[in-house]
Formats: sequence, structure tokens, C-alpha cells
Amino acid sequence: MASSFSLFFSFLLLLLAISTCCSTNPEGEALHVLRTRLHDPTNVLQSWDPTLVNPCTWFHVTCDDHNRVIRLDLGNSNISGPLGPELGSLKNLQYLELYRNNFEGKIPKELGNLKNLVSMDLYGNQLQGEIPKSFGKLKSLRFLRLNNNKLTGSIPRELASLSNLKVLDVSNNDLCGTIPIDGPFTSFPLGSFDNNSRLNGPELQGLVPYDFGC
Ligand SMILES: *[C@@H]1O[C@H](CO)[C@@H](O)[C@H](O)[C@H]1NC(C)=O
Ligand SMILES: *[C@@H]1O[C@H](CO)[C@@H](O)[C@H](O)[C@H]1NC(C)=O
Repeated sequence: MASSFSLFFSFLLLLLAISTCCSTNPEGEALHVLRTRLHDPTNVLQSWDPTLVNPCTWFHVTCDDHNRVIRLDLGNSNISGPLGPELGSLKNLQYLELYRNNFEGKIPKELGNLKNLVSMDLYGNQLQGEIPKSFGKLKSLRFLRLNNNKLTGSIPRELASLSNLKVLDVSNNDLCGTIPIDGPFTSFPLGSFDNNSRLNGPELQGLVPYDFGC
């Protein structure tokens, strides 16, 4: 009696082990959720198999030695559809490369949670709405290219606190207001702000930022 009970118990443990071993980890789950919303006419995301133990063997995904996702490389991939909040859960992400696709809708504010992000390239899409103020939390960020989208609103003042930011490009959007003058903004060329018909020049020192036409 006792031994058949322990046999049954071992069997239960085995079932539990099987059911937890072969599903993907939270980062894989986040990427899979993103994929389910996207239109991918050239099957760039075909290798994204959610039954694998982690997403580290998927094409266009790169992990570090601890199987944590550090890069997402989906530039020039003909993908359309909305980005989503789940991208903000890839806490170790350093490179988010989604340029030249047809991503649409708003930029999720949750991308501001990517504390290790070095480069965010969202240029050449159909993104709308405002640049999230939460980007002021991206203290590791060096490259931020949001050009050639349909972004509106003003440039968040929070971006002036990004002391590592070396390259900013928001040209070819529909931004308004004035260009900040402090922090990294002292070194960005005016070309970074080109072709935003309602964006005015750098704000004047000592004056309260005045959002012309915003
Ligand atoms: C994207 O679509 C174009 C035209 O349909 C095609 O030539 C190109 O190879 C596609 N790109 C990828 C990465 O599949
Ligand atoms: C200005 O930006 C808009 C929005 O991205 C774009 O459609 C348009 O072609 C750009 N104009 C020029 C002259 O580059």
C-alpha cells in the first residue's frame, strides 16, 4: 500500500516536471504574444516556436550566456501591426532594432522599463502618438532613432536627462513645440529635427518652454 502510494506520488511529480519543463520562459512568452498580433508576410518570424525552452535559438533574437534576451533584430522585415507592452518585460534588452517595417499605433510607454537599452531604432515605420515621457528612464541609451514615422506632440523634456545619449533623430515626423537645449541636446545637429512642420527652434535660455502650436 505504502509503495503504491509513493509510486503514484512519483508519477504526479513526473507529470509536473514534464508540464513545466517544455514551455518557453517569460521572455519567450512575451515575444510570442507580440508575434500573435503581427502580420508577417515573408515569414521572418517562422522560427519563433513557443514550445522551446527559451527563445535563444529563434532567428532575429540574441541571448547572453544566461539565456536572457539582449537583442531583437527585425529591421527591414516587412512586418506590420502594433507594438505592445510586453516588449517592456525584456529587462535585459540592449538593442531594439525594428526599423523600416510597417509597425503602427503608439509607442508603448513600457519601453521606458528597458533600463539596459543601448540602442532603439524604430525609424521608418508608421508609428503615431507621442514620444513616451518614460524614455527619460532609459539611462543606458546611446542611440534613439524615431525618424520617418507619424509622431506628434512635443519632445519630452525628460530626454534631456539622458546623459549617455549620443544620437537622436526625430526628423520627418509631425512634432510640435520647441527643441530642448540642455543635456545631450547641446550636441545634436539641427538635421535631427528636420521636417517637423510645427516644431520650432531651440527654446531660449531662461524662458519657460513655450509649446508653439502644440
Ligand atoms: C519584403 O518585401 C519585398 C517586396 O515584397 C521583398 O522584395 C523583400 O525581399 C522582403 N523582405 C524580406 C526581409 O523578406
Ligand atoms: C516629411 O515627413 C513626412 C512624415 O514622415 C513624410 O511623409 C514626408 O515625405 C517628409 N518630407 C520630406 C520633404 O522629406
